[in-house]
Amino acid sequence: MSSLQRELERAAGIIKKHDYARVVSHYDADGITAAGIICNALIRRGIQFHATITSKLDGHFVQEMGNEELIIIADMGTAQMNLISEILKDKDVVILDHHTTSLRSSPSQSHVLINPNYAWQSSVEKTKPMYGSELCAAGISYLVARLLGDDERGNVDLAGLAIAGTLGDKLPLDRGINGLILDEALKEGVVTPRRGLKLGDGKVRDLILLSTDPYTPLAGNIEKVDEFLSEVGIDGDKRLEELGEEDERRLCSALLSIAGESKMELREEALFGTTYILNSEVVKNALDFMRMVDACGRFGKAGIGIGLCLREEVLVEEAKSLYMVFQNKLVSELNRIEGAKGEAMKELPNIYYLYVQEKGITGVLAGIIAEYISRGKPVIVLNRKDGANEHGGDTKISARCSKNLVRKGIDLAKALEHAASEVGGYGGGHPVASGASIPEGAEERFITAVDRIIGEQIRAS
Ligand code: C5P
Repeated sequence: MSSLQRELERAAGIIKKHDYARVVSHYDADGITAAGIICNALIRRGIQFHATITSKLDGHFVQEMGNEELIIIADMGTAQMNLISEILKDKDVVILDHHTTSLRSSPSQSHVLINPNYAWQSSVEKTKPMYGSELCAAGISYLVARLLGDDERGNVDLAGLAIAGTLGDKLPLDRGINGLILDEALKEGVVTPRRGLKLGDGKVRDLILLSTDPYTPLAGNIEKVDEFLSEVGIDGDKRLEELGEEDERRLCSALLSIAGESKMELREEALFGTTYILNSEVVKNALDFMRMVDACGRFGKAGIGIGLCLREEVLVEEAKSLYMVFQNKLVSELNRIEGAKGEAMKELPNIYYLYVQEKGITGVLAGIIAEYISRGKPVIVLNRKDGANEHGGDTKISARCSKNLVRKGIDLAKALEHAASEVGGYGGGHPVASGASIPEGAEERFITAVDRIIGEQIRAS
């Protein structure tokens, strides 16, 4: 039996012993779908739960869980292993995470940490990537949920949620264990593939107008969109699903060509390819599902996201309108940045960085800029108010870069973790996508440190 299988069975075994669980997960699409999978599996076993979606797991939060007997933490927890081992040492704790951090302690006896980036052997020093590094929290949660089912096919219908979570974290669906999950979902009819534009469902005009991933030079400009569609000869009022592959391919070529004229980094794979229909979910298009759930989390309405995962049809309209509000915010911020013609984005030897005014969009914005606008260096986005909470006014930071830069030695998780700790904050995440919170006023010192550390990473590789 593989060590992953052993750990999954340990996690399922611990969960089955309880009739109540406290579930905590992260507020993005992967975190919410991970929690959604776990909540579905618990309901089906008759295990009651209290689920909380949060942007961070700090000492206060961990302390508050001291009265629970079973705590399931998804999409976070690895970075808080020290705290968890100390405060929750007598509790059953299951952590389903895929974030990397500088681990300082191994889980205690009654705790299970399933993180594809770490293998727990005889000592903490021996941690090394072991299995399924492509897995996200929703994928890991799905594997646990499968073992919580009543029979061999138990909970297989939850695979669509795992796929949506994987899309949310931009991890490959067809590789490694994710490929096995996808194969199972296809075989069981849980999802159906579709070739076409990766724009989601809806009227062609609206989709192009509000699309930010893929991002095109037409985003936010209705006149340009209408002019473009009439040149291509496509009725903007038609729904994308009605077009068919040939028209979608024509649209794709035309979008690629105007992106090329605007020197935008739009690649065909970002625009066109295989998308998935989630046959068991209340929102059928996997991209739409993922984007709606993500928007719910970012607006502090994660309960609606969890509701979607629990197949509450009545929540679809509200989730859709949150997604629309989010896209409008994003598009107007992107138009502002592009309109400022280089004034908004600053360049240092090893990074680009910019401040945004809108809360809750640093990660998404950094991702779009790093992918479609400035691919040459990592992009760091800061928001002074975003991290503010009852414990103080933090500045929230997100960093993103292309995989190509990671191949050149850049690791944003390490860069942000170290730079944040130099200025009294904390950070971490993944080599291509990481985040940090730092005290207000420390921004320029932090940026200088990130630039220096990334320079060191490039020179060391
Ligand atoms: O918030 P954002 O989307 O930019 O986060 C990117 C990644 O960095 C996420 O995986 C998140 O969990 C991680 N992160 C972290 N510590 C922080 C902020 C974010 O590990 N303080």
